[in-house]
Amino acid sequence: MSLDCLFSRSGKFAGKRLHLGVSGSVACYRALDVLRALRALDMHVSATLTGGARQFVTPLLFEALGAMPVYGDMFAPGEEAFAHLEPGQHAQAMLVAPASADTLSRLAQGAASDMLSAQALAFDGPLLLAPAMNPRMWQHPATQANVATLRERGARIILPACGRAACGDAGEGRLAPPEELFWQALRALAPQDMAGKRVMVTVGPTREPWDGVRYWSNPSSGRMGGALAVAAWLRGATVTAVCGPGCPGLPSEIRRLDVGTAREMFEAAADIWPDMDCGCFCAAVADFSPVPHGPEKFKKEGAEAGFSVSFAPNPDILRTLAARRRADQRLLGFAAETAPDMDSLLALARAKRARKDADLLAGNCVNSAGCGFGCATNSMAVTDRHGHEEIWPQQNKADVAWDLLTWLLRI
Ligand code: PMT
Repeated sequence: MSLDCLFSRSGKFAGKRLHLGVSGSVACYRALDVLRALRALDMHVSATLTGGARQFVTPLLFEALGAMPVYGDMFAPGEEAFAHLEPGQHAQAMLVAPASADTLSRLAQGAASDMLSAQALAFDGPLLLAPAMNPRMWQHPATQANVATLRERGARIILPACGRAACGDAGEGRLAPPEELFWQALRALAPQDMAGKRVMVTVGPTREPWDGVRYWSNPSSGRMGGALAVAAWLRGATVTAVCGPGCPGLPSEIRRLDVGTAREMFEAAADIWPDMDCGCFCAAVADFSPVPHGPEKFKKEGAEAGFSVSFAPNPDILRTLAARRRADQRLLGFAAETAPDMDSLLALARAKRARKDADLLAGNCVNSAGCGFGCATNSMAVTDRHGHEEIWPQQNKADVAWDLLTWLLRI
């Protein structure tokens, strides 16, 4: 499961209100994916389709997927007298996706002659603009000047992607991927209580090679660590994720350092740790690596009766970096345990927190259903350096990540 699917099940955005503006582009249909993902969070989404957008998609389609209300022309029969002011009074963020060249131009001029530009003019919350157009239209100095003006006024531009446009031209101009629009919308709605913080997260498994084709590893999917990285970024932090092999995609504004082995993860993490305010050590790091056989494939001839492999210890990233901490740095550790019940798990977590000198430590049972490796949920036994302890019932890993960060902030 991708991280946007994981966050689509989060309860943290229920009841938030976003206004979605859609302007004329072949990419209009992709706004529907964003609408679906936001509605899955139990958010209120209203929408405005410009005349151009209605040439590509119908208001009914947006209504059917839960947008309410869906606005059209300013003076259409039945339209409310003050519809052009309504999103400004109710929505907490406005996302225009796709934003055509014409819409960008109207917004930059402060036009109010159509419903969407009037609504944008009357809106003083976070405005996100996701341009989509032909690459030459995007590169045109007039469009670039409009984008610069809008940016100066505080609009957030979600840059278009490169690729082949519907007309066949190639270059920058395609609407950013729906998951990127989803992330940016959530960030605009999230509390910015981690703004200014620099956060490092270790994510996923490590992979320790033994011969040319075999390695030692574990089933970590990177979801729990990825959820921490995303939650910190949504809340305004600058995030670096040190990712083992096979970790899920992250929002493009999260810096990602891909590594393979425990030693590589240690070196990458140790290198950036002095610049960090918080470290979340969620990776399932191999404590030991097989002493390598060599770069060639090990042949079974001569080993029919079995053979032995020796292991050498790896550096303990959490414990080493905790020992190098400044007084203002905070560390969140995890404990992957096979415990018979949550009370035993809490006792193991308590001992591990002290041994590793973490500020906060979250234990999870990796031998019970719906917890630990690979799944979308987790239940935790959490303990901190002041002796506060809690046992959390099973919940979505996105929500677990959110609550752990909230705890880490108040230690
Ligand atoms: O990735 P998912 O599929 O979502 O699964 C999530 C998870 C089960 C991997 C995660 O919730 C979790 O428990 N991560 C920690 C796994 C682990 O290695 O636990 P541990 O008890 O062996 O290690 C204790 C702590 O020391 C952890 O914070 C670990 O990151 C850290 N450690 C361990 C060994 C090592 N050499 N260096 C470390 O930094």
